[in-house]
Amino acid sequence: MQLRKWLSAVLAASLVGKGRVSALDLDIEDEASIKNAASTVARKMMSEYHGNEPGQVPGLIPDSWWEGGVMFMTLIQYWYWTGDTTYNDITREGMLHQQGQNDFFPNNYSHFLGNDDQMFWGLAAMTAAELNFPEEEGQPSWVSLAQGVFNTQIPRWDETACGGGMRWQIWPFEGGYTMKNAISNGGLFQLAARLGRYTDNETYASWAEKLWDWSITTPLLKSDDWTIADSTTMEHDCKDHGDQQWTYNYGAYIGGAAYMYNVTNGGQKWKAGIDGLLATTWKTFFAKEAMSEIWCEQTMTCDRNEDMFKGFLSSWLTSTAIIAPYTASEIVPRIQRSALGAAQQCLNGQSCGRRWHQEEWDGSATMQSDMSALSVFSSAMAVFKTDAKPLTLATGATSKSNPEAGRKEDALPFKPRPVTTGDRVGAVIATVLFVALWMAGLIWLIDPNECIRSCFAAESGANV
Ligand SMILES: *[C@@H]1O[C@H](CO)[C@@H](O)[C@H](O)[C@H]1NC(C)=O
Ligand SMILES: *[C@@H]1O[C@H](CO)[C@@H](O)[C@H](O)[C@H]1NC(C)=O
Ligand SMILES: *[C@@H]1O[C@H](CO)[C@@H](O)[C@H](O)[C@H]1NC(C)=O
Repeated sequence: MQLRKWLSAVLAASLVGKGRVSALDLDIEDEASIKNAASTVARKMMSEYHGNEPGQVPGLIPDSWWEGGVMFMTLIQYWYWTGDTTYNDITREGMLHQQGQNDFFPNNYSHFLGNDDQMFWGLAAMTAAELNFPEEEGQPSWVSLAQGVFNTQIPRWDETACGGGMRWQIWPFEGGYTMKNAISNGGLFQLAARLGRYTDNETYASWAEKLWDWSITTPLLKSDDWTIADSTTMEHDCKDHGDQQWTYNYGAYIGGAAYMYNVTNGGQKWKAGIDGLLATTWKTFFAKEAMSEIWCEQTMTCDRNEDMFKGFLSSWLTSTAIIAPYTASEIVPRIQRSALGAAQQCLNGQSCGRRWHQEEWDGSATMQSDMSALSVFSSAMAVFKTDAKPLTLATGATSKSNPEAGRKEDALPFKPRPVTTGDRVGAVIATVLFVALWMAGLIWLIDPNECIRSCFAAESGANV
Protein backbone atom coordinates (compact mmCIF):
# COMPACT_ATOMS: atom_id res chain seq x y z
CA MET A 1 0.00 0.00 0.00
CA GLN A 2 1.92 3.01 1.22
CA LEU A 3 5.22 1.24 0.80
CA ARG A 4 4.31 0.01 -2.66
CA LYS A 5 3.37 3.47 -3.77
CA TRP A 6 6.76 4.65 -2.73
CA LEU A 7 8.42 1.83 -4.49
CA SER A 8 7.11 2.96 -7.86
CA ALA A 9 7.81 6.61 -7.14
CA VAL A 10 11.37 5.81 -6.27
CA LEU A 11 11.95 3.65 -9.25
CA ALA A 12 10.71 6.37 -11.51
CA ALA A 13 12.73 9.05 -9.80
CA SER A 14 16.10 7.53 -9.24
CA LEU A 15 16.68 4.12 -10.68
CA VAL A 16 15.35 3.96 -14.17
CA GLY A 17 17.99 4.48 -16.81
CA LYS A 18 20.87 4.07 -14.42
CA GLY A 19 23.47 1.66 -15.69
CA ARG A 20 23.78 -0.89 -12.92
CA VAL A 21 26.81 -3.08 -12.77
CA SER A 22 25.54 -5.65 -10.31
CA ALA A 23 27.77 -8.47 -9.43
CA LEU A 24 24.67 -10.00 -7.94
CA ASP A 25 21.93 -9.37 -10.38
CA LEU A 26 19.34 -7.47 -8.36
CA ASP A 27 16.09 -6.06 -9.63
CA ILE A 28 14.68 -4.08 -6.74
CA GLU A 29 11.17 -4.25 -8.17
CA ASP A 30 11.16 -8.01 -8.37
CA GLU A 31 10.51 -10.03 -5.24
CA ALA A 32 12.11 -13.19 -6.63
CA SER A 33 15.24 -11.32 -7.59
CA ILE A 34 15.71 -9.91 -4.10
CA LYS A 35 15.07 -13.30 -2.52
CA ASN A 36 17.63 -14.81 -4.80
CA ALA A 37 20.25 -12.22 -3.86
CA ALA A 38 19.46 -12.74 -0.18
CA SER A 39 19.69 -16.52 -0.34
CA THR A 40 22.97 -16.35 -2.27
CA VAL A 41 24.53 -14.16 0.41
CA ALA A 42 23.01 -16.19 3.25
CA ARG A 43 24.54 -19.37 1.81
CA LYS A 44 27.95 -17.76 1.55
CA MET A 45 27.69 -16.34 5.07
CA MET A 46 26.71 -19.71 6.52
CA SER A 47 29.58 -21.44 4.76
CA GLU A 48 31.80 -19.49 7.16
CA TYR A 49 29.87 -20.60 10.24
CA HIS A 50 30.93 -23.90 11.78
CA GLY A 51 29.01 -24.02 15.06
CA ASN A 52 26.68 -26.67 13.65
CA GLU A 53 29.47 -29.07 12.74
CA PRO A 54 30.55 -32.04 14.88
CA GLY A 55 32.85 -31.08 17.75
CA GLN A 56 32.07 -27.37 17.39
CA VAL A 57 30.22 -25.08 19.81
CA PRO A 58 26.73 -24.13 18.58
CA GLY A 59 26.19 -20.38 18.32
CA LEU A 60 29.85 -19.53 18.64
CA ILE A 61 31.75 -17.39 16.17
CA PRO A 62 35.33 -17.71 17.37
CA ASP A 63 36.97 -14.61 18.89
CA SER A 64 33.83 -12.53 18.72
CA TRP A 65 31.02 -13.92 20.81
CA TRP A 66 28.57 -11.12 20.08
CA GLU A 67 28.73 -11.75 16.34
CA GLY A 68 26.77 -14.95 16.84
CA GLY A 69 23.86 -12.93 18.17
CA VAL A 70 24.07 -10.57 15.22
CA MET A 71 24.14 -13.42 12.74
CA PHE A 72 21.08 -15.08 14.25
CA MET A 73 19.17 -11.81 14.40
CA THR A 74 19.95 -11.38 10.71
CA LEU A 75 18.87 -14.95 9.92
CA ILE A 76 15.59 -14.58 11.81
CA GLN A 77 14.80 -11.47 9.79
CA TYR A 78 15.86 -13.26 6.60
CA TRP A 79 13.45 -16.09 7.37
CA TYR A 80 10.65 -13.64 8.13
CA TRP A 81 11.00 -11.54 5.01
CA THR A 82 11.74 -14.31 2.51
CA GLY A 83 10.04 -17.37 4.01
CA ASP A 84 13.21 -19.45 3.59
CA THR A 85 13.42 -21.85 6.55
CA THR A 86 16.82 -23.31 5.60
CA TYR A 87 18.66 -21.87 8.60
CA ASN A 88 15.94 -22.03 11.24
CA ASP A 89 17.23 -25.15 13.00
CA ILE A 90 20.79 -23.87 13.10
CA THR A 91 19.53 -20.56 14.47
CA ARG A 92 17.43 -22.14 17.20
CA GLU A 93 20.21 -24.50 18.20
CA GLY A 94 22.83 -21.75 18.38
CA MET A 95 20.68 -19.31 20.32
CA LEU A 96 19.54 -21.87 22.85
CA HIS A 97 23.07 -23.18 23.36
CA GLN A 98 24.27 -19.68 24.21
CA GLN A 99 21.35 -18.82 26.50
CA GLY A 100 23.39 -19.08 29.73
CA GLN A 101 21.03 -19.01 32.72
CA ASN A 102 18.18 -17.58 30.63
CA ASP A 103 20.23 -14.43 30.21
CA PHE A 104 22.72 -14.81 27.34
CA PHE A 105 25.56 -14.52 29.80
CA PRO A 106 27.19 -17.95 29.43
CA ASN A 107 30.02 -18.80 31.83
CA ASN A 108 32.52 -19.54 29.07
CA TYR A 109 32.54 -15.91 27.96
CA SER A 110 30.86 -13.84 30.66
CA HIS A 111 34.11 -12.67 32.25
CA PHE A 112 35.11 -10.62 29.21
CA LEU A 113 31.78 -9.39 27.89
CA GLY A 114 30.49 -5.85 27.66
CA ASN A 115 26.90 -4.83 28.29
CA ASP A 116 26.48 -4.32 24.57
CA ASP A 117 27.60 -7.87 23.72
CA GLN A 118 24.91 -9.42 25.90
CA MET A 119 22.34 -6.87 24.81
CA PHE A 120 22.63 -7.86 21.14
CA TRP A 121 21.66 -11.44 21.92
CA GLY A 122 18.70 -10.04 23.85
CA LEU A 123 17.65 -8.08 20.78
CA ALA A 124 17.99 -11.22 18.65
CA ALA A 125 15.63 -13.07 21.02
CA MET A 126 13.26 -10.09 21.03
CA THR A 127 13.20 -10.17 17.24
CA ALA A 128 12.37 -13.88 17.33
CA ALA A 129 9.48 -13.20 19.72
CA GLU A 130 8.01 -10.34 17.69
CA LEU A 131 8.14 -12.33 14.47
CA ASN A 132 6.82 -15.60 15.95
CA PHE A 133 10.00 -17.44 15.06
CA PRO A 134 9.34 -21.09 15.96
CA GLU A 135 10.30 -22.08 19.51
CA GLU A 136 11.60 -25.35 20.88
CA GLU A 137 9.53 -27.31 23.29
CA GLY A 138 10.92 -27.51 26.84
CA GLN A 139 13.18 -24.50 26.27
CA PRO A 140 12.70 -20.92 27.52
CA SER A 141 10.57 -18.74 25.26
CA TRP A 142 12.26 -16.14 23.08
CA VAL A 143 10.74 -13.21 24.90
CA SER A 144 11.73 -14.63 28.28
CA LEU A 145 15.34 -14.71 27.10
CA ALA A 146 15.05 -11.03 26.18
CA GLN A 147 13.55 -10.41 29.62
CA GLY A 148 16.47 -12.32 31.14
CA VAL A 149 18.88 -9.89 29.49
CA PHE A 150 16.84 -6.92 30.71
CA ASN A 151 16.69 -8.35 34.24
CA THR A 152 20.46 -8.88 34.40
CA GLN A 153 21.33 -5.49 32.89
CA ILE A 154 19.07 -3.21 34.93
CA PRO A 155 20.86 -4.05 38.21
CA ARG A 156 24.03 -2.74 36.50
CA TRP A 157 22.51 0.72 36.07
CA ASP A 158 25.33 2.83 37.43
CA GLU A 159 24.97 6.00 39.46
CA THR A 160 28.56 6.30 40.65
CA ALA A 161 29.13 8.99 37.98
CA CYS A 162 27.16 10.93 35.37
CA GLY A 163 23.91 10.56 37.28
CA GLY A 164 23.16 7.14 35.81
CA GLY A 165 23.63 5.18 32.61
CA MET A 166 25.07 1.83 31.61
CA ARG A 167 28.80 1.35 31.57
CA TRP A 168 30.29 -0.01 28.39
CA GLN A 169 32.10 -2.93 30.01
CA ILE A 170 30.87 -5.01 32.91
CA TRP A 171 34.04 -5.84 34.83
CA PRO A 172 36.49 -3.41 36.47
CA PHE A 173 39.49 -5.07 34.80
CA GLU A 174 38.15 -4.47 31.30
CA GLY A 175 39.27 -1.49 29.22
CA GLY A 176 36.17 0.65 28.87
CA TYR A 177 34.77 -0.08 32.34
CA THR A 178 34.74 3.62 33.18
CA MET A 179 33.15 4.62 29.91
CA LYS A 180 29.50 4.95 29.09
CA ASN A 181 28.72 4.41 25.46
CA ALA A 182 25.91 4.92 23.02
CA ILE A 183 25.31 1.34 21.97
CA SER A 184 25.05 -0.10 25.50
CA ASN A 185 22.56 2.59 26.49
CA GLY A 186 20.79 2.94 23.14
CA GLY A 187 20.57 -0.83 22.73
CA LEU A 188 19.08 -1.39 26.17
CA PHE A 189 16.75 1.54 25.52
CA GLN A 190 15.53 -0.22 22.41
CA LEU A 191 15.22 -3.58 24.16
CA ALA A 192 13.19 -2.01 26.98
CA ALA A 193 10.94 -0.16 24.54
CA ARG A 194 10.27 -3.38 22.62
CA LEU A 195 9.58 -5.38 25.78
CA GLY A 196 7.22 -2.61 26.85
CA ARG A 197 5.29 -2.75 23.62
CA TYR A 198 5.30 -6.54 23.49
CA THR A 199 4.13 -7.19 27.05
CA ASP A 200 2.26 -3.94 27.70
CA ASN A 201 4.11 -3.83 31.03
CA GLU A 202 4.76 -0.27 32.17
CA THR A 203 8.03 -1.20 33.95
CA TYR A 204 9.84 -1.71 30.65
CA ALA A 205 8.48 1.44 29.06
CA SER A 206 9.49 3.56 32.02
CA TRP A 207 13.02 2.13 31.93
CA ALA A 208 13.14 2.90 28.23
CA GLU A 209 12.16 6.49 28.92
CA LYS A 210 14.70 6.71 31.72
CA LEU A 211 17.48 5.46 29.42
CA TRP A 212 16.50 7.98 26.74
CA ASP A 213 16.19 10.88 29.17
CA TRP A 214 19.51 10.06 30.79
CA SER A 215 21.23 9.76 27.40
CA ILE A 216 20.04 13.27 26.54
CA THR A 217 21.87 14.65 29.59
CA THR A 218 25.13 13.43 28.01
CA PRO A 219 26.85 13.76 24.61
CA LEU A 220 25.60 10.25 23.82
CA LEU A 221 22.34 11.78 22.60
CA LYS A 222 22.48 15.49 21.90
CA SER A 223 19.00 16.84 21.43
CA ASP A 224 20.14 20.28 20.29
CA ASP A 225 21.55 18.97 17.00
CA TRP A 226 20.45 15.31 17.25
CA THR A 227 23.88 13.79 17.03
CA ILE A 228 25.13 10.73 18.87
CA ALA A 229 28.64 10.54 20.30
CA ASP A 230 29.98 7.02 20.51
CA SER A 231 31.23 7.21 24.07
CA THR A 232 31.99 9.40 27.06
CA THR A 233 34.00 8.90 30.24
CA MET A 234 33.02 8.75 33.87
CA GLU A 235 36.28 10.50 34.81
CA HIS A 236 34.80 13.64 33.26
CA ASP A 237 31.29 13.10 34.47
CA CYS A 238 30.23 12.28 30.92
CA LYS A 239 30.98 15.76 29.57
CA ASP A 240 33.70 14.65 27.15
CA HIS A 241 32.97 12.72 24.02
CA GLY A 242 34.47 10.41 21.45
CA ASP A 243 32.55 11.58 18.42
CA GLN A 244 33.01 8.82 15.90
CA GLN A 245 29.78 8.56 13.98
CA TRP A 246 28.47 5.02 13.59
CA THR A 247 25.34 3.84 11.85
CA TYR A 248 24.33 1.35 14.53
CA ASN A 249 24.24 3.95 17.31
CA TYR A 250 21.70 5.94 15.31
CA GLY A 251 19.79 2.79 14.46
CA ALA A 252 19.54 1.79 18.12
CA TYR A 253 18.06 5.09 19.28
CA ILE A 254 15.85 5.64 16.20
CA GLY A 255 14.48 2.11 16.41
CA GLY A 256 13.76 2.39 20.13
CA ALA A 257 12.10 5.79 19.68
CA ALA A 258 9.89 4.29 16.97
CA TYR A 259 8.64 1.60 19.36
CA MET A 260 7.94 4.27 21.98
CA TYR A 261 6.20 6.39 19.37
CA ASN A 262 4.00 3.44 18.49
CA VAL A 263 3.27 2.48 22.10
CA THR A 264 2.32 6.05 23.00
CA ASN A 265 0.14 6.26 19.93
CA GLY A 266 2.19 8.94 18.24
CA GLY A 267 3.79 10.67 21.24
CA GLN A 268 5.36 13.99 20.24
CA LYS A 269 8.45 13.48 22.37
CA TRP A 270 9.30 10.38 20.39
CA LYS A 271 8.39 11.87 17.04
CA ALA A 272 10.78 14.75 17.71
CA GLY A 273 13.56 12.25 18.45
CA ILE A 274 12.85 10.14 15.36
CA ASP A 275 12.68 13.18 13.09
CA GLY A 276 15.83 14.76 14.49
CA LEU A 277 17.89 11.57 14.36
CA LEU A 278 16.64 10.64 10.89
CA ALA A 279 17.67 14.06 9.58
CA THR A 280 21.18 13.56 10.95
CA THR A 281 21.28 10.01 9.61
CA TRP A 282 20.44 11.12 6.08
CA LYS A 283 23.01 13.89 6.19
CA THR A 284 25.76 11.75 7.68
CA PHE A 285 25.41 8.25 6.30
CA PHE A 286 23.36 8.78 3.14
CA ALA A 287 25.23 11.68 1.57
CA LYS A 288 26.01 9.24 -1.24
CA GLU A 289 23.54 7.12 -3.16
CA ALA A 290 23.69 4.26 -0.66
CA MET A 291 24.28 3.96 3.07
CA SER A 292 27.90 4.44 3.98
CA GLU A 293 29.85 3.74 7.18
CA ILE A 294 31.67 7.01 6.73
CA TRP A 295 34.12 6.61 9.56
CA CYS A 296 35.96 3.61 8.20
CA GLU A 297 34.85 3.05 4.60
CA GLN A 298 36.67 6.00 3.13
CA THR A 299 39.94 4.63 4.41
CA MET A 300 38.92 0.97 4.09
CA THR A 301 39.83 0.42 7.72
CA CYS A 302 36.55 -1.05 9.02
CA ASP A 303 37.14 -3.90 11.45
CA ARG A 304 34.98 -7.00 11.68
CA ASN A 305 32.59 -5.32 14.12
CA GLU A 306 32.19 -2.19 12.06
CA ASP A 307 31.38 -4.14 8.91
CA MET A 308 28.20 -5.35 10.63
CA PHE A 309 26.87 -1.92 11.64
CA LYS A 310 25.07 -1.06 8.39
CA GLY A 311 22.99 -4.20 8.84
CA PHE A 312 21.55 -2.87 12.09
CA LEU A 313 20.68 0.49 10.62
CA SER A 314 19.01 -1.27 7.67
CA SER A 315 16.77 -3.48 9.75
CA TRP A 316 15.96 -0.88 12.42
CA LEU A 317 15.07 1.73 9.81
CA THR A 318 12.80 -0.87 8.28
CA SER A 319 10.98 -1.57 11.53
CA THR A 320 10.73 2.19 12.03
CA ALA A 321 9.02 2.51 8.64
CA ILE A 322 6.47 -0.08 9.79
CA ILE A 323 5.64 1.10 13.30
CA ALA A 324 6.00 4.81 12.58
CA PRO A 325 4.56 4.64 9.05
CA TYR A 326 4.87 8.37 8.41
CA THR A 327 8.63 7.77 8.03
CA ALA A 328 8.30 5.14 5.28
CA SER A 329 8.50 7.65 2.44
CA GLU A 330 11.95 8.73 3.61
CA ILE A 331 13.23 5.31 4.57
CA VAL A 332 12.15 2.94 1.82
CA PRO A 333 13.92 4.59 -1.12
CA ARG A 334 17.14 4.78 0.84
CA ILE A 335 16.95 1.11 1.77
CA GLN A 336 16.33 0.22 -1.84
CA ARG A 337 19.26 2.24 -3.12
CA SER A 338 21.43 0.68 -0.43
CA ALA A 339 20.33 -2.83 -1.41
CA LEU A 340 21.22 -2.11 -5.02
CA GLY A 341 24.55 -0.78 -3.85
CA ALA A 342 25.21 -3.83 -1.71
CA ALA A 343 24.49 -6.11 -4.66
CA GLN A 344 27.29 -4.39 -6.59
CA GLN A 345 29.70 -5.41 -3.85
CA CYS A 346 28.67 -9.05 -3.74
CA LEU A 347 30.55 -10.95 -6.40
CA ASN A 348 29.24 -14.42 -7.02
CA GLY A 349 30.92 -17.12 -4.98
CA GLN A 350 32.70 -14.81 -2.54
CA SER A 351 31.83 -12.66 0.44
CA CYS A 352 30.59 -9.12 -0.11
CA GLY A 353 32.59 -5.91 -0.01
CA ARG A 354 31.57 -2.97 2.12
CA ARG A 355 31.34 0.16 -0.05
CA TRP A 356 27.71 0.07 -1.09
CA HIS A 357 28.10 3.47 -2.72
CA GLN A 358 30.72 2.30 -5.18
CA GLU A 359 30.02 0.52 -8.44
CA GLU A 360 33.17 -1.57 -8.66
CA TRP A 361 33.93 -4.14 -6.01
CA ASP A 362 36.04 -2.48 -3.29
CA GLY A 363 38.42 -5.41 -2.82
CA SER A 364 37.20 -6.45 0.63
CA ALA A 365 35.26 -9.64 1.32
CA THR A 366 34.11 -10.52 4.83
CA MET A 367 31.45 -12.61 6.50
CA GLN A 368 30.53 -9.47 8.47
CA SER A 369 29.83 -7.52 5.28
CA ASP A 370 27.70 -10.49 4.22
CA MET A 371 25.61 -9.96 7.35
CA SER A 372 25.04 -6.30 6.48
CA ALA A 373 24.22 -7.12 2.86
CA LEU A 374 21.81 -9.86 3.92
CA SER A 375 20.13 -7.44 6.29
CA VAL A 376 19.59 -4.77 3.65
CA PHE A 377 18.34 -7.34 1.10
CA SER A 378 15.83 -8.66 3.66
CA SER A 379 14.81 -5.08 4.42
CA ALA A 380 14.18 -4.46 0.73
CA MET A 381 11.56 -7.24 0.89
CA ALA A 382 9.37 -5.22 3.24
CA VAL A 383 7.50 -3.51 0.40
CA PHE A 384 6.15 -6.87 -0.72
CA LYS A 385 4.73 -7.84 2.66
CA THR A 386 2.32 -5.09 3.51
CA ASP A 387 0.81 -6.79 6.56
CA ALA A 388 4.21 -7.23 8.21
CA LYS A 389 4.64 -5.89 11.71
CA PRO A 390 6.37 -6.78 14.95
CA LEU A 391 3.73 -8.60 16.99
CA THR A 392 2.79 -8.15 20.62
CA LEU A 393 1.04 -10.45 23.09
CA ALA A 394 -2.14 -8.56 22.28
CA THR A 395 -1.78 -8.92 18.51
CA GLY A 396 -0.89 -12.57 18.03
CA ALA A 397 2.63 -13.12 19.34
CA THR A 398 2.93 -16.55 20.93
CA SER A 399 6.21 -16.33 22.82
CA LYS A 400 5.27 -16.40 26.52
CA SER A 401 6.34 -13.66 28.89
CA ASN A 402 8.24 -14.50 32.06
CA PRO A 403 9.07 -11.29 33.91
CA GLU A 404 11.23 -13.23 36.41
CA ALA A 405 13.53 -14.73 33.75
CA GLY A 406 17.24 -14.46 34.42
CA ARG A 407 16.75 -13.04 37.92
CA LYS A 408 19.35 -14.25 40.35
CA GLU A 409 19.77 -13.52 44.01
CA ASP A 410 23.46 -12.88 43.52
CA ALA A 411 22.85 -10.46 40.68
CA LEU A 412 21.64 -7.94 43.24
CA PRO A 413 23.84 -6.24 44.15
CA PHE A 414 26.11 -6.90 41.21
CA LYS A 415 29.24 -8.85 42.19
CA PRO A 416 32.20 -9.18 39.80
CA ARG A 417 34.09 -12.45 39.91
CA PRO A 418 37.68 -12.38 41.25
CA VAL A 419 40.20 -10.96 38.80
CA THR A 420 43.04 -13.13 37.51
CA THR A 421 46.42 -12.00 36.22
CA GLY A 422 45.46 -13.07 32.72
CA ASP A 423 42.42 -10.84 32.88
CA ARG A 424 44.56 -7.87 33.88
CA VAL A 425 47.04 -8.33 31.08
CA GLY A 426 44.25 -8.67 28.55
CA ALA A 427 42.48 -5.66 29.95
CA VAL A 428 45.56 -3.45 29.77
CA ILE A 429 46.09 -4.33 26.14
CA ALA A 430 42.45 -3.68 25.38
CA THR A 431 42.57 -0.33 27.15
CA VAL A 432 45.67 0.88 25.36
CA LEU A 433 44.21 -0.09 22.00
CA PHE A 434 40.84 1.33 22.77
CA VAL A 435 42.09 4.65 24.05
CA ALA A 436 44.34 5.03 21.03
CA LEU A 437 41.41 4.48 18.70
CA TRP A 438 39.20 6.73 20.73
CA MET A 439 41.76 9.52 20.60
CA ALA A 440 42.10 9.07 16.86
CA GLY A 441 38.37 9.65 16.69
CA LEU A 442 38.65 12.75 18.77
CA ILE A 443 41.27 14.33 16.56
CA TRP A 444 39.05 14.08 13.53
CA LEU A 445 36.43 15.96 15.42
CA ILE A 446 38.49 18.92 16.52
CA ASP A 447 36.87 22.18 15.61
CA PRO A 448 39.24 24.94 16.68
CA ASN A 449 36.41 27.31 17.52
CA GLU A 450 34.47 24.99 19.68
CA CYS A 451 36.33 22.25 21.31
CA ILE A 452 39.37 23.70 23.01
CA ARG A 453 38.04 22.97 26.47
CA SER A 454 36.36 19.66 25.92
CA CYS A 455 39.18 18.28 23.81
CA PHE A 456 41.73 18.99 26.47
CA ALA A 457 39.49 17.52 29.09
CA ALA A 458 39.15 14.37 27.01
CA GLU A 459 42.87 14.18 26.46
CA SER A 460 43.69 14.05 30.14
CA GLY A 461 40.90 11.51 30.55
CA ALA A 462 42.76 9.21 28.23
CA ASN A 463 45.59 8.93 30.72
CA VAL A 464 43.48 7.42 33.46
C1 LIG B 1 31.71 -23.88 26.86
O1 LIG B 1 32.96 -24.56 26.57
C2 LIG B 1 32.82 -25.99 26.52
C3 LIG B 1 34.22 -26.55 26.33
O2 LIG B 1 34.80 -26.04 25.17
C4 LIG B 1 31.87 -26.39 25.40
O3 LIG B 1 31.69 -27.76 25.38
C5 LIG B 1 30.52 -25.70 25.63
O4 LIG B 1 29.67 -25.99 24.55
C6 LIG B 1 30.71 -24.21 25.75
N1 LIG B 1 29.44 -23.58 26.06
C7 LIG B 1 29.01 -22.51 25.39
C8 LIG B 1 27.73 -21.94 25.87
O5 LIG B 1 29.59 -22.01 24.46
C1 LIG C 1 1.81 1.40 15.17
O1 LIG C 1 2.19 0.31 14.35
C2 LIG C 1 1.17 -0.21 13.52
C3 LIG C 1 1.78 -1.35 12.72
O2 LIG C 1 2.03 -2.36 13.59
C4 LIG C 1 0.64 0.86 12.59
O3 LIG C 1 -0.43 0.33 11.85
C5 LIG C 1 0.17 2.05 13.42
O4 LIG C 1 -0.23 3.09 12.54
C6 LIG C 1 1.33 2.54 14.30
N1 LIG C 1 0.90 3.66 15.13
C7 LIG C 1 1.22 4.92 14.86
C8 LIG C 1 0.77 5.95 15.85
O5 LIG C 1 1.84 5.27 13.88
C1 LIG D 1 6.31 -6.15 34.80
O1 LIG D 1 7.71 -6.25 34.68
C2 LIG D 1 8.41 -6.18 35.91
C3 LIG D 1 9.89 -6.15 35.60
O2 LIG D 1 10.32 -7.34 35.04
C4 LIG D 1 8.00 -7.33 36.82
O3 LIG D 1 8.65 -7.22 38.06
C5 LIG D 1 6.48 -7.34 37.00
O4 LIG D 1 6.11 -8.49 37.71
C6 LIG D 1 5.78 -7.31 35.65
N1 LIG D 1 4.36 -7.20 35.83
C7 LIG D 1 3.50 -8.01 35.23
C8 LIG D 1 2.06 -7.74 35.50
O5 LIG D 1 3.86 -8.92 34.50
